[in-house]
Amino acid sequence: MTSSNSASLNAREPIKFAYWVPNVSGGLVISNIPQRTSWDINYNVKLAQIAEQNGFDYALSQIRFTAGYGAEFQHEPVSFSQAILSQTERLTLIAALLPGPWNPTLAAKQISSINVLYGPRIAVNVVSGWFRGEFAAIGEHWLDHDERYRRSEEFIRALRGIWTEESFTFRGDFYRYNNYSLKPKPHPLPEIFQGGSSRAARDMASRVSDWYFTNGNTPDEIAKQVSDIRTKAAEHGRSVKVGVNAFAIARNTEAEAQNVLAEIIEHANPEAVRAFGHEVKNAGAASPEGQGNWAKSTFNDLVQYNDGFRSNLIGTPQQIAERILDLKDSGADLILLGFLHFQEEVEFFGKNVIPLVRKLEAERPYAQAAE
Ligand SMILES: Cc1cc2nc3c(=O)[nH]c(=O)nc-3n(C[C@H](O)[C@H](O)[C@H](O)COP(=O)(O)O)c2cc1C
Repeated sequence: MTSSNSASLNAREPIKFAYWVPNVSGGLVISNIPQRTSWDINYNVKLAQIAEQNGFDYALSQIRFTAGYGAEFQHEPVSFSQAILSQTERLTLIAALLPGPWNPTLAAKQISSINVLYGPRIAVNVVSGWFRGEFAAIGEHWLDHDERYRRSEEFIRALRGIWTEESFTFRGDFYRYNNYSLKPKPHPLPEIFQGGSSRAARDMASRVSDWYFTNGNTPDEIAKQVSDIRTKAAEHGRSVKVGVNAFAIARNTEAEAQNVLAEIIEHANPEAVRAFGHEVKNAGAASPEGQGNWAKSTFNDLVQYNDGFRSNLIGTPQQIAERILDLKDSGADLILLGFLHFQEEVEFFGKNVIPLVRKLEAERPYAQAAE
């Protein structure tokens, strides 16, 4: 299936696990199926503690300014991440930042302070925007697709420059700095993730990001993206790690897991799914190559915001662990997970799936070669 040169960047390293922080109401599926997940802080603190005690490395909080296709209430991700950091010990929080509402000055200052206060457990996910109605609601200018990425790239260059340079000067089209000296600076440097799969997103990742987050997909499709990004990154003397989204349904039998999936889809809110599909396909179609994260998504795929069913982590713990290894062999360094009932399913996943993944990793030829 995948060639050996597309194994994850650090194939000998254990694959990392992240979960989506439910800082937005309504869960991660556009469905009226009951979800025992809450967006409040008490639920989230307990969830984070369960996650870090059960093998999770990262938690990603998202940015949403308005409702739309679910998500009626939304907590701001930097402050929400900080609240979780204050109650946890090991987990790294990845806070989403949307250029436009955020500029690099404020972002660099905020994240640097959090880094100093809580140690190196804060990272950022720079997102570029797909929701035009949201931009209109908050009075932000809606840039064309590739312009959004040009701004995000400058944002990341400025962020890293402020964090690393003693006296930072920058002449961009979107941001300008004159001998700016940020104090205190963060140590070590927070990791910079980004989300998006279009040509512009991949090119940006190859030039400036530490991590590339992409929507759920099959191992073969992930392998194609990985090889594309690695080739481009190598031209810039860089390497980029890859995180793949997945909606996990781990149950004791495959039939149980498939039934849950069928129920989620059966209770999907068809108008909201179609409206969401229309919005994201339009946002993707605005890229010059006419592609993007959701170019090939079907109605069923769109019930999960980021094509998480396509990664097919739906079945028994053993089946899921084997499929995670397939994704790792395709080049994934991290799996970003969503669940229906977060607290109980993060715990089940951590106790039943992650140990099997570690066992399979230890049996892989690259692990033997490392000994
Ligand atoms: C893992 C992941 C997380 C994302 N998180 C957010 C978010 O919190 N807020 C947001 O507005 N967009 C988010 N996005 C959307 C992307 O920033 C981007 O707008 C979208 O994927 C379309 O990109 P494309 O046109 O390059 O395919 C996320 C995307 C991915 C893959």
